[in-house]
Amino acid sequence: MNSGIGALRGNVVIALVSTKGGVGKTTLSGHIAVEAERRGVGPVALIDMDRQGSLSHWWNARERSTPFFVESTHSRIGSDLVRLGEMGFGLTIIDTPPAPYNIIEAAVELSDLIVMPLRAGPHDMRTLPATLSIVEPLGKPVVFVLNGATVGARITNEAVSLLSQYGPLAPVIHQRVDYAASMIDGRTAMEIKSASPAIDEMSALWAYVQRRCGQMKMSLPHQVPA
Ligand SMILES: Nc1ncnc2c1ncn2[C@@H]1O[C@H](COP(=O)(O)OP(=O)(O)O)[C@@H](O)[C@H]1O
Ligand SMILES: [Mg+2]
Repeated sequence: MNSGIGALRGNVVIALVSTKGGVGKTTLSGHIAVEAERRGVGPVALIDMDRQGSLSHWWNARERSTPFFVESTHSRIGSDLVRLGEMGFGLTIIDTPPAPYNIIEAAVELSDLIVMPLRAGPHDMRTLPATLSIVEPLGKPVVFVLNGATVGARITNEAVSLLSQYGPLAPVIHQRVDYAASMIDGRTAMEIKSASPAIDEMSALWAYVQRRCGQMKMSLPHQVPA
């Protein structure tokens, strides 16, 4: 079913993809990787394919050495994934840039699952076809994540109904300062407090992604029921 390198090698590769900047690809890459490790899926690797290097800055500011971190390019991503597979990483999360397309395509081609974050509103919804035009020809399963949403706002509910018509929609991630503030010094929302709405949301998001992987027969190592 999956031609992603992860599926071939018994590990899972997930790419965060959107042709729009500022939707939360980098934020969610770091958070999903850390949350997966917290839930016992490990070791986890993170790949930054964005030349802007936001995820690299985050990781360099991080005190912990996990998740494992790699910077990659469209020409190196294949060999990097093979190497990570050989090193025993059961889950790899790829953070991609909004452009150019050849970098996004290289990541999508080698991934088992695409997570596409969007914010509610017309600008993000208009970029949906552009992103899907990269993902769909490559036959990759997608899940949408409505990110940075306002609690109870009408626009949030409208975006939820619209996105559900396009495909599977993960639990909504709301606009919360913990997501942004925690990343300043290399942490995540789960690492700055012992309890918070952001922690609960990330736990629900990972549980959803993990279920989708299970439904598609991708095997994550050391799975702990969320
Ligand atoms: N759910 C959220 N709540 C609060 N701030 C967020 C949230 N998601 C992302 N951000 C902030 O929005 C900005 C863009 O997010 P980022 O992850 O860099 O997007 P992308 O990688 O798609 O360009 C960053 O400043 C980030 O801290
Ligand atoms: Mg980014």
